[in-house]
Amino acid sequence: MCGIIGYVGGKPSERILVEGLKKLEYRGYDSAGIALCTEQGMKVVKAKGRIAELERLLGRQTLPPGTIGIGHTRWATHGKPSDANSHPHTDTLMKISVVHNGIVENETELRKELEEQGAVFRSETDTEVISHLIAFHYAGDIVQAVQAATRRMRGAYALAVLSELEPDKLVAVRLHSPLIIGIGDGEHFVGSDIPAILEHTRDVYILDDGEMAVLTREEARLMTIEGNPIAKQRFRVNWDLATAEKAGYDHFMLKEIYEQPKAYRDTLEGRLFPRYPWTYLPELSLTPERLKQFRNVHLVACGTAYHAGLVGKMAIERWARLPAEADVASEYRYRSPLASPETLVIVVSQSGETADTLAALREAKRRGAHTLAVTNVVGSTAAREADDVLFTRAGPEISVASTKAYTTQLLVLYVLALHLARVRGTLPDAEIEPVVRALGELPEQAESVLQQAGEIRGYAQEIASREHLFFLGRGLDFAVALEGSLKLKEISYIHSEAYAAGELKHGTLALIEEGTPIVALATQPELMSKTASNVREAMARGADVLGIVGAGSPSLSERQLTLPDTHPALMPAIAVVPLQLFAYYAAVARGYDVDKPRNLAKSVTVE
Ligand code: F6R
Repeated sequence: MCGIIGYVGGKPSERILVEGLKKLEYRGYDSAGIALCTEQGMKVVKAKGRIAELERLLGRQTLPPGTIGIGHTRWATHGKPSDANSHPHTDTLMKISVVHNGIVENETELRKELEEQGAVFRSETDTEVISHLIAFHYAGDIVQAVQAATRRMRGAYALAVLSELEPDKLVAVRLHSPLIIGIGDGEHFVGSDIPAILEHTRDVYILDDGEMAVLTREEARLMTIEGNPIAKQRFRVNWDLATAEKAGYDHFMLKEIYEQPKAYRDTLEGRLFPRYPWTYLPELSLTPERLKQFRNVHLVACGTAYHAGLVGKMAIERWARLPAEADVASEYRYRSPLASPETLVIVVSQSGETADTLAALREAKRRGAHTLAVTNVVGSTAAREADDVLFTRAGPEISVASTKAYTTQLLVLYVLALHLARVRGTLPDAEIEPVVRALGELPEQAESVLQQAGEIRGYAQEIASREHLFFLGRGLDFAVALEGSLKLKEISYIHSEAYAAGELKHGTLALIEEGTPIVALATQPELMSKTASNVREAMARGADVLGIVGAGSPSLSERQLTLPDTHPALMPAIAVVPLQLFAYYAAVARGYDVDKPRNLAKSVTVE
């Protein structure tokens, strides 16, 4: 949670910091602030609210110019969103400023100790402890003071530290929260992610846990937190900022929904053949012998990525005949999972930085399992820590509500399931061939679903005034219903529940009354007639049903959308698209900020 940025160079830093924060706003947006070292000392400007609020505040004053500074956009963890709780935080004498992404777990104990030493606290945040702690350890060297402070802190942090006492230096340090260093010409940057600095440079270092950087105009010195110098490889970013901009769409979410056909093509590119060996995943270190040794598979993830894991589980069980479980990462790590060297643990994460997912990944490794990350972000922590990685090639996903990341996760999991099946000999070629062919057709089919956006918009506008809604489905349709329901909830704030259609009559049917809206999915040939019966049961109680059906489905309701015909196992990659559009148009009709839903952040780096 939270985004941080820092700059040291020859240019006025105020604009660079504010523009960088705008790129990071998806990581949190309940308050923002900057600190600059100027000829008149340290200047801090911060405010509750979005970056626009900070800009308004900056517009009402003239700060003395400063060519070194730090900035922050916040997603509140300790302390409510307020001016005082906004970052940067300073020490008592306002000589040291800190921006922080993460959590200081021993905050209470440190705060008490520092107060006893005379520190004056101005906020309720855990971050303020860090600024006082650094000041407490300062004895003429800011780098050593930061090192001493981090030795006392437990938890997670990406920090950028600025001191008026050494005004040419920026100190950045990372443990369990992402941080990158940008290398420019006579200037250096620090940021939570690459888009924040991409306007200025394409050359970056990606810091690993326990590493720090000391930045001046002239150099970026890299070292461990203990102070031992390290040599790191530079990373050259090969995508541009335009890719991450809205390109004429009203919202990033809509743009990302429409980018799915291309994202499908990119993700499948080079990974499938129309004949034996069908799949090609050279990035996997796993040999066929090793693939044959696995006895079970765990798919672990959060939120939308977990919903992709549910579909992956069904594909792996169906095709590779391996027992597979999908689990929510925050549950997995605490339930003493039965993971062993014979377990393949697949963590699914768009960002590759989700704290719960990373903790589950580490737990799986601790138990000796082979770990594989399915992620969208090259250089992310999951990508680097897992034994193997398969990248979704969705391109940057900016909207908080995940769309193209989810569908490309599905595609990678399908290819992986086929790969496992082929190597393990559990699926005859005659059955692999139609799936491979159907995967290749998905981009065009997604395009044809997008052409039905007008119809979906009409229905979304009708239900936008409703407060409750149900999504129903069986099997894979239930997994998609869960995702449709989450999407609707998170951006339109309409309460919705996803139900396994056959389960409705065991209690929840009591909630159905005249006019209750239901979105019912029936795309699986062997389950269609069963779902149709459940839908009839709900309609008999007055439910108003929108059917989303596959070709050949019995009529579910008067109003229904027929999806292009594909292999039943691949239906989720098609069926979710109208649900994404439905959530989007419902949120727009209700007048909400689609890309930045309340209380949420794109990358959840706290437990
Ligand atoms: C919902 C959404 C979240 C994420 C979840 C995991 O639209 O985006 O539920 O899927 O926070 O994030 P990643 O995939 O980055 O691990």
